[in-house]
Amino acid sequence: MARNSSGTADQTPVGIIGAGPAGLMLSHLLHLQGIDSIVLELRSREYVEKRVRAGVLEQGSVDLLNATGVGDRMKRQGLVHEGIKLRFSGEEHRIDFRKLAGRSITVYGQQEVVKDLIARRLSDGGDIRFEAQAVAVGDISGQPTIRYRQAGDHRELRCRVVAGCDGSHRVAASSMLDDSFQVYERQWPFGWLGILARTPPATDELIYAHHERGFALHSMRTPEISRLYLQVPADETMDHWPADRIWDELRIRLNEPKLKPGEILEQGITPMRSVVTEPMQRGNLFLAGDAAHIVPPTGAKGMNLALNDVNILAEGLVEYFRSGARDKLDTYSERCLRRVWRAEHFSAWMTGLLHRDPAGDPFEYKLRLSYLRYVTTSTAAATTLAENYVGFDPGPTPLA
Ligand code: FAD
Ligand code: DHB
Repeated sequence: MARNSSGTADQTPVGIIGAGPAGLMLSHLLHLQGIDSIVLELRSREYVEKRVRAGVLEQGSVDLLNATGVGDRMKRQGLVHEGIKLRFSGEEHRIDFRKLAGRSITVYGQQEVVKDLIARRLSDGGDIRFEAQAVAVGDISGQPTIRYRQAGDHRELRCRVVAGCDGSHRVAASSMLDDSFQVYERQWPFGWLGILARTPPATDELIYAHHERGFALHSMRTPEISRLYLQVPADETMDHWPADRIWDELRIRLNEPKLKPGEILEQGITPMRSVVTEPMQRGNLFLAGDAAHIVPPTGAKGMNLALNDVNILAEGLVEYFRSGARDKLDTYSERCLRRVWRAEHFSAWMTGLLHRDPAGDPFEYKLRLSYLRYVTTSTAAATTLAENYVGFDPGPTPLA
């Protein structure tokens, strides 16, 4: 059996694999309720704090960060947006979230959420082990153990419960999946090339642009820093995208002459996938966030789903550790999945609506344009977009 360097196995009530938004928020929520946890993170602190990803927080996520005391910087630096712009065929249409859905969204980088959570966990005395790679979870129907590698040592963490928050790497999931699980999956034939650039945003609200050359998105982080995305083929590499080509393509697809090239601070290509694992739990192992489900980024849902899962999981764990009752824990997956599937549908719908289908024919292209025009002229269709974008909660499955 793998042991730590002193020859004993460490113990914790809750072992958490992954220090992304899901793992960190779970550890924080449990701490607020007096429950200890240990977080194992494959990467260094510096790496996870710099990893550029999502940027859109639904109101529910903003409320959770504020209610748990980690929202101060977001309140100061987050950009509250009351709508988005849709551009296609040389036209621009605004979807007014406030008017159509009564809520707004906040643009605040995922790595800022991660930084705020790490700072708070460490100042609260939390145990986050960076550069610690979980390799397997054992005995999930009893007292689970996480085997992990850190600084060349093989170690073991004994837990009462394990939360697999390890994103798309799926070490936790592969420790529980067998024929009784369903993994629903769709690969999209394209990916997103994303850049973070030192250039003032050319827009005050996000621009989602459909163009015959492909989709583009203009987002932002601060008044000086923009976040921009381009649809590219699924197997594309950055070698084909020198900076000049990126800026030219962005200007054409976004139809935005005010966008000025700037220093590219970060760049990368992310393939797009939709995945749902059902159920999201087995015995004493629970998956949360991208470890359980992945959405294509068009709907800006991934980080929000991750935060929602762990909020539900924390509630079940608190009940379990206080009273031994497992009712909420046993129905964790059911209680998450309605919202997960709503977000999967919305993300797939937004993706289909806005991207160029590489295999599509001209008829398909015309249908997409007609649908875009419908979404931007019918109040009912625009409301569908608005209420899903700001976060539609179909309600949890009631407890039996
Ligand atoms: P992650 O953030 O992936 O965290 C998992 C952690 O586990 C990582 O730190 C990883 O290093 C660690 N790990 C992995 N394997 C191991 C192991 N074996 N041992 C220990 N640690 C391990 N979502 C939104 O809500 N809004 C958006 O606007 C949005 N835009 C996006 C744009 C892009 C380009 C991309 C790529 C994603 C976007 N998303 C968006 C999705 C969002 O980033 C993810 O859904 C989110 O990161 C999920 O959080 P998580 O904590 O579940 O997983
Ligand atoms: C951002 C990412 C998204 O996936 C999206 O739909 C909107 C904005 C962003 O990174 O800012």
